[in-house]
Order: sequence, then structure tokens, then C-alpha cells
Amino acid sequence: MYANYLFMNKKEVRNLVVIENTALNTTNFLISLNSSEPLPILLPGQFVNIEIKDSSEIFLRRPFSVFDVNYDQNTLSIIVKILGRGSKKLTEIRVGESLSIVFPLGKGFTFPKSEDKVLLVGGGSGVAPMLFLAKESGLIKENVSLLLGAKTIEDHVNVDEYAKYGNLYFTTENGSLGEKGFVTQHSVFQNRLENYDKIYACGPDAMMKAIAKEAKKANVFCEVSLENLMACGFGVCLCCIEPTIKGNLCVCTEGPVFNINDLKW
Ligand SMILES: Cc1cc2nc3c(=O)[nH]c(=O)nc-3n(C[C@H](O)[C@H](O)[C@H](O)COP(=O)(O)OP(=O)(O)OC[C@H]3O[C@@H](n4cnc5c(N)ncnc54)[C@H](O)[C@@H]3O)c2cc1C
Ligand code: FES
Repeated sequence: MYANYLFMNKKEVRNLVVIENTALNTTNFLISLNSSEPLPILLPGQFVNIEIKDSSEIFLRRPFSVFDVNYDQNTLSIIVKILGRGSKKLTEIRVGESLSIVFPLGKGFTFPKSEDKVLLVGGGSGVAPMLFLAKESGLIKENVSLLLGAKTIEDHVNVDEYAKYGNLYFTTENGSLGEKGFVTQHSVFQNRLENYDKIYACGPDAMMKAIAKEAKKANVFCEVSLENLMACGFGVCLCCIEPTIKGNLCVCTEGPVFNINDLKW
């Protein structure tokens, strides 16, 4: 049944070889994986479900957003923030070892139109899909604002890479980089939200709920990428259910990206 499901939905299980595992700071790691065969199309907001290797106690795969893809070199990258045992074990993987992944999973963000002005907001590990969206959207840099929130300056990683694709704004909870506070306290939210055609966000629930509230107030299109706890990643275990105006939906198959108007927030 598992094999049939994956086949019908053009998802696959593949072993990819680790070609890079770089510590970006003490808790965030950039892991790049190479496939011996061409990669399927991976859209911003989609994710991969990774088996935690050599662990007798972690049975379930762990979901990670696609951070970057290079189709010429058949490589894809993820950013892993250490949260618990699974992510910790994953960051200990060595170059040359392989990882079993199920992909591509979920539905990605709605692409902006070429003339759209967009605001991309990432908090914590939620910054990963934002860079991929900024890159793949094909928008001119002037039309892209990237607002990244974190606890401290040390938590802001890969900043140079983000700067290539948009105007960068930061918040930190202790004020060590950018404006002090949460992303929704940034001046972009205070007086400029109506300037944007679309807002996209990924991060902690509380952050996305606060963004959704502001976007509704300003009547701006907004999509968020939910990070509900997941197990199977393809709609069978029902552990990732989110109540929506269309009923209870699996975040792994009907999301993780949702329009805020569909959520019961
Ligand atoms: C669609 C999707 C995309 C994701 N993309 C990324 C990414 O790009 N980079 C990244 O670092 N992480 C990402 N995550 C989160 C990542 O999957 C979890 O951090 C990871 O599964 C935690 O596993 P663990 O074994 O380390 O933690 P566990 O030992 O399973 O959990 C440790 C603690 O964290 C909590 N927790 C676990 N998962 C989550 C979660 N998803 N949200 C909130 N709390 C959680 C648990 O309840 C527990 O309290 C994503 C999650 C989803 C659903
Ligand atoms: S993770 Fe199993 S149904 Fe979504």
C-alpha cells in the first residue's frame, strides 16, 4: 500500500548521499544531499521526510523544508535546527553517508505574479523555505522584502545568501541585530503592510498567527507554512490535522502552506 501510495502521488523514497554538513552556528546546520538520478521538481514550501539513521529509538522520519535545489548537480539542501533527539542525530551525519528521504511532500506556496511586491517573513527554522521562495519566485530584488526574526544575532545564519534576493530586515528579541522584539513589532508591520501584494510566512505558530492577524487587518493576501507535528508525511496517520473552514485537513498533504483565510485562527 505504501509503495502504491507513493507511486500514485509521484512521491518516492530515495537514498541521497551527504555532500555537505556545515555548522552555521551552534544549533543550525546546512546539510546538502546529492542524488545519483535527476531530482523531481521541488517547490518552495514543499518538504522532505528524512529517516534518522542508526537510531534504535527514533522510528519516525522527521520533516524538513527544502532550502535549496540545484537541478544541474542533482543536489538539494536543508537547514536543520537542533530541537530534540532526531534533529540532533541528523546533524551528526558525516559527508559520504547516505540518508533515506521521502519526497517531494506537501503543497508549496502560490507563486507571486512578476509585478507583485512581496513580504517574506521567517522565524526560527522557518527561514529555510523563505530563501527558496525568494530565489524561485523570479522577482526583481527591489520587489522582495525579507523579514527574519530570531532570538539573538547568533541565530541569524546565511544572511549573505538572503541579501542576494531581497531587501533584508531583522528582528532579535534582545535587540542585537535589527529592531528589538518580534517580527510583527517591526516597522514593516507597523506602517507599511498595505504596500505589499502578498505576504508569505513560516515560523512558530504564535508568530504566524500574529502575522495573519495583521495581514487580515491590512487586507493583504497571506500564506503561511505550518509546522504541525508529523509522522508519515503523506496523509495516512492523521497526526498532523489542522482545523480549517474546509474541515479537518492533513497539513502534510493539503499543506503545509495554507491561505490564512482558510484557517480557523
Ligand atoms: C513541514 C515542516 C517543515 C519543517 N522544516 C524544518 C526546517 O526546514 N528546519 C528545521 O530545523 N525544522 C523544520 N521542521 C521542524 C522539524 O521537523 C522538527 O524540528 C523535528 O521534527 C524535531 O525532531 P526532533 O526529533 O529533533 O525533536 P523531538 O524530540 O521530536 O521533539 C523535541 C521537542 O520539539 C517539539 N517539536 C517537534 N517537532 C516540532 C514542530 N514541527 N513544531 C514545533 N515543535 C516541535 C516536540 O513536541 C518536543 O517538545 C519542519 C517541520 C514541518 C512539519
Ligand atoms: S503526517 Fe501522517 S497524515 Fe500527516
